[in-house]
Amino acid sequence: MIPFLNLEPMHNEIGNEIRCAIERVYSNNWYIMGQELELFEQEYAQYCGVKYCIGVGNGLDALQLILMGYEIGAGDEVILPANTFIATALAVSYAGAKPVLVDIDINTYNIDPDLIEAKITKNTKAIIVVHLYGQPANMDKILEISRRYNLKVIEDSAQAHNARYKGALTGGLGDAAGFSFYPGKNLGALGDAGAVTTNDKQLAETVRALRNYGSQEKYNHELKGMNSRLDELQAAVLRVKLKHLDRWTKERRLIAKHYLSGISNNEIVLPQVPSDMEPVWHIFAIRCRNRKKLQSYLDDQGIQTLTHYPIPIHLQPSYLDLGYQAGDFRRTEQSSKEEISLPLWYGMDKVLQDRIIHSINSYCS
Ligand SMILES: Cc1ncc(COP(=O)(O)O)c(C=O)c1O
Repeated sequence: MIPFLNLEPMHNEIGNEIRCAIERVYSNNWYIMGQELELFEQEYAQYCGVKYCIGVGNGLDALQLILMGYEIGAGDEVILPANTFIATALAVSYAGAKPVLVDIDINTYNIDPDLIEAKITKNTKAIIVVHLYGQPANMDKILEISRRYNLKVIEDSAQAHNARYKGALTGGLGDAAGFSFYPGKNLGALGDAGAVTTNDKQLAETVRALRNYGSQEKYNHELKGMNSRLDELQAAVLRVKLKHLDRWTKERRLIAKHYLSGISNNEIVLPQVPSDMEPVWHIFAIRCRNRKKLQSYLDDQGIQTLTHYPIPIHLQPSYLDLGYQAGDFRRTEQSSKEEISLPLWYGMDKVLQDRIIHSINSYCS
């Protein structure tokens, strides 16, 4: 079986470095808000080309903390793509605001900027763009709209570490960005972890306090914050992995290139990459009308695939209260029915890649 994701080659390669980092934290006897976190924050800010990075508990918290930091909450609306992982919407809900969904461009799977303006009301405070599957959203158009309506632009960069839009890195394209370091992400910890990146000094200071019970000084709580800190062990692991991320990204791009040039089947729609984008292929998403059949065919061939995302947010039982119905976001729904994610991971042998290409090319409904 070719697994959808296999972290073993990556982890075998850096096993000694990781063990050293863990040992360093263990013998330091300091596990929360210490030197490893401070250094990781400096290193990741530099990596993303931004002034500030604040390590937090996970990617969902990162987005929620940004919204809280901008005092976006009850009575406010936040625009986001209908096609995303539910965490993007949950961050808005937890902040107390209302998620307002917008359909996608079916060619890029990202929010369609031409549909945003119609959703802006007097209560709209921000747009969350999701760089889905590791491909940046169409930022120029979105930033232009945000300037006209005075809206914050928040990047959900959970799937887009090291991706570029017109040469600029994700994480610094809007007012602030939320990253996830969930283990399967392109930069993944050995547990839950996340970060906020921004050039906004005031937001950085507020988020820094909010992640630590709203306190900048021990036992003095200026804000009603939460406990969402990136711990020393995860920070130390991430510092090791960050050093290898460029190389790992390069390999992901080579695998994607191999798929793009090798897969040829009239029943399959391959991902499209606009010329000004440099995706990082967190997910290699193809589309097929008869997804179920293709997926079970690939399964029979020993190829594990996933679907991202089989039930769109507006059709999730937890979000029925938003009042949307089937048919409201047709392209998102199309993607939810047709999308299949192929295995793509660091260390994936060319033989395995070729097996996948060959299997897909031989598929006939
Ligand atoms: C697009 C998107 N946003 C947010 C998140 C939330 O990240 P986490 O799982 O670290 O909370 C994820 C992670 O799964 C994601 O894929």
